[in-house]
Amino acid sequence: MAAQSKYTPEQKSAAIATYRATQNVREAARQADMPYSSIHRILKKAGVLGEKPTAPRPHEAAQFEDLKTVEMPWRKILDFCTEGEDIYRKTRGGQEKAAVKIDTDRPFVVCYSSDWHLGSASVSHDQWRLHLDTLLNTPNLYMIAVGDYVDNFLKFRSIMPVLEQIIPPRIQFELLEKVFDELIENGKLLAASWGNHDDERMENEIGFSLVEKMLRNRVPYLGGQGLVTVKAGDQEYSHLLTHKSRYQSFLNKLHGAKRMYQLVWPARIVVTAHTHNPDYETYYHYDKQNYLVKCGTFKDHDGYSQRYWTQGRIGVPALVFYPDRDEIVPFLRVDQAVKYANAL
Ligand SMILES: [Fe+2]
Ligand SMILES: [Fe+2]
Repeated sequence: MAAQSKYTPEQKSAAIATYRATQNVREAARQADMPYSSIHRILKKAGVLGEKPTAPRPHEAAQFEDLKTVEMPWRKILDFCTEGEDIYRKTRGGQEKAAVKIDTDRPFVVCYSSDWHLGSASVSHDQWRLHLDTLLNTPNLYMIAVGDYVDNFLKFRSIMPVLEQIIPPRIQFELLEKVFDELIENGKLLAASWGNHDDERMENEIGFSLVEKMLRNRVPYLGGQGLVTVKAGDQEYSHLLTHKSRYQSFLNKLHGAKRMYQLVWPARIVVTAHTHNPDYETYYHYDKQNYLVKCGTFKDHDGYSQRYWTQGRIGVPALVFYPDRDEIVPFLRVDQAVKYANAL
């Protein structure tokens, strides 16, 4: 037979109520005048030990009279984003595709020039001037520019290239702007690509490209991998170009261009730069003969390249295009291409 409890149901209920109000077993025992072990047993049997308090705590909760209510009008936020996108697109220069027409019935030359690195003590500026003069004085010669126009060493892991600039980046960009002005006024520049020394560095420092701003509304500027179609007569010659190919190989100069042909766009001509060693390769895809071009440089006595990579080579490859038939003749040097075109 079960032992008779020494507490009445009323006493037990009162003890449970006290516990619920105080959430404290000792306090409930004290108020009910019961031993701790007794009230603990009663609470345990009633299943109220550890239960969440149902009664308010014995203190007054603070009331916030002017708590700010936050609204999240998500439709309005999306409207704002859409309007911002529109402004961003309209004010942002650069394009991924461009078409340029050359009004001629004679074969013409397009040279692929990059990595001028103007302002560096490691550049042969006299050779570059000769290149520019040839371009300006040769009627059927045009240029597609492929980046790294100025040296623009703002900082580097070594201070040497920063200190070994003959003119500071500010004057380098002033010089470049005048050069672009002259090329554009003479109708010589067909398109220009980004470069890591000019665009990428300024994008890192100030968030936008100064080259794009110089060329804006005048000549197509390609801020990434871009497609430029050169039209003449009834022919169209597509070019895929970028300064620095994601797929470049140190051992195989044209590997980056070949992979771009395969993975980005099967253009007739694929042009890359950056590695300072000019070359070209013909590349057959089924029965189509394509041309892969690697630009050279004018930075041909650079101690850093000589130590860690390979010395840069002066060179501006060029292609002769026919406007009346689908024919391209490649040359490693622009002067050879001009001689050939003029002899036709
Ligand atoms: Fe370069
Ligand atoms: Fe580069």
